[in-house]
Amino acid sequence: MARMVSKLILKSKISDIQKEKLQTLFPEAFTEGKIDWNQLRYSLGDSLEDEDEHFKLLWKGKDKCFHSIHSPVNGVLKPEKKESVEWRKTENYFFEGDNLDILKIMQEEYAEKIKMIYIDPPYNTGKKFVYNDYFSDYPQKNPWKTNRLDKETNYFPSSNESASRYHSNWLNMMYPRLFLARNLLRDDGVIFISIDDHEVHNLRVIMDEIFDGRNFVEQIIWKKRSSPPNDKVIGAAHEYILVYAKNIRNLKLYPKERTSEQLKRYKNPDNHPKGPWTAGDLMANVKGGRYVKSLYFPITNPNTGELHYPSSNGNWRYNQEHIQKLIENNEIYFGKNGEGRPKLKRFLSDVKEGTSHTTIWDNVPLSHCGSKEMQKILGNLTIFDNPKPCRLIIELLKLGSSKNDIILDFFAGSCTTAHAVITLNEEEGGNRKFIMVQIPELTSEDSEAFKCGYKTVAEIGKERLRRVIKQITDERAEKNQKENNFIDSPEPFPNGYNGFKVYKFLNTENC
Ligand SMILES: C[S@@+](CC[C@H](N)C(=O)[O-])C[C@H]1O[C@@H](n2cnc3c(N)ncnc32)[C@H](O)[C@@H]1O
Repeated sequence: MARMVSKLILKSKISDIQKEKLQTLFPEAFTEGKIDWNQLRYSLGDSLEDEDEHFKLLWKGKDKCFHSIHSPVNGVLKPEKKESVEWRKTENYFFEGDNLDILKIMQEEYAEKIKMIYIDPPYNTGKKFVYNDYFSDYPQKNPWKTNRLDKETNYFPSSNESASRYHSNWLNMMYPRLFLARNLLRDDGVIFISIDDHEVHNLRVIMDEIFDGRNFVEQIIWKKRSSPPNDKVIGAAHEYILVYAKNIRNLKLYPKERTSEQLKRYKNPDNHPKGPWTAGDLMANVKGGRYVKSLYFPITNPNTGELHYPSSNGNWRYNQEHIQKLIENNEIYFGKNGEGRPKLKRFLSDVKEGTSHTTIWDNVPLSHCGSKEMQKILGNLTIFDNPKPCRLIIELLKLGSSKNDIILDFFAGSCTTAHAVITLNEEEGGNRKFIMVQIPELTSEDSEAFKCGYKTVAEIGKERLRRVIKQITDERAEKNQKENNFIDSPEPFPNGYNGFKVYKFLNTENC
């Protein structure tokens, strides 16, 4: 990090990194460090798209996105020790600035180092929040200072022309940032993006373009409300979390831990050497699948001699020989008294470490829980609009990262992601590190945040972290005092130091 700060003018290295990768794949297409485009065409051979017409999303300004990606950063990251916590010991960061600049600066130091990215960008709802969620007039000199709300509609007024650029402007904002973010992910890494129906269709297309559609993992549906908004006949009670891998072949995700309820189902009444088991279906799942005639045969119950056939239109899961072996190994269950239909003993030792996630997440906290958490920490329910519930992000952290990984959120807002990392570390004895990026977007004078003394959104996030860290540190000290009769809070902490270093982006363009 020290290296990053000492450079006065930070040049984007992105094109060099990409070129190097291309050169590794197609060395023949490079002469004296330059790309020979014709040779690259020949090398690609049949896989080259010759047709003029192919599937692509075009919008006004797309061509400038690459200019945005490659243009150098003129600025420095200035350390702010006074705003930080445990400066010397922590490996967590809070970067204050436009994430486009910060992501460019991070290219050198963090290329392929991040295991998991979670972002919750503005959804482009056209509404007024404590942050800008309106992209009709973007880009402008300082979009974060926009404050021309129509008080009656709670929407920003827009001219026809600017309204037509609504999606284009949002895409122009997102595209370069996602492009730069991809370079930071490890090969086994994953990105989660919260989004709703305003832009999900466009986001999917640009993610397919930037990350490659083959790296699409799933589109999670998060149930965020228990009832629909009452001003709608059909009201959305959900939003999405898009999941993309850096490289689907090497992606590492972690299954859900079995709950004690699920574990209770596994028992070992016959003292089987393979350990606890539960009775499962011996029938193959042929619904919508293929009926296999050779798997239709009778199984003889060795206790009664009774013949059991697959139920109507179905077949067994295994062939006759395999089932015979299972019977010999006492891996088929014929009911409590040994006289029933055959079932398969599913051993806990054979099943995956955990269970699979479904794409429908209706078992995690609803959206309003995020606001309640803010009230608990900062004493005000409406200081930040739509903060995500901590437990939702903890679920994502458990799914996408392990104990020592680095997690990045470059639309940090009130820093729910960092809060979730700290909480999970505490619960699991983990040492995940976080990097938060948040622009010092001004809060408007009539907002609760402003009235409570927060002049920028970044100030809300930093203060939340300070309070969360203090609370956890106090709780640890109290616990240790009770358990060990310590007078002072014990150090060092077993799972790393809770803290964060603040760096602010300082524009040096005119220096
Ligand atoms: C939807 S909020 C994120 C909320 C967050 N997940 C939470 O739980 O608090 C989006 C955030 O992105 C920030 N943001 C928008 N554009 C940004 C940019 N260019 N650089 C950094 N932050 C930005 C906004 O200020 C806002 O705080």
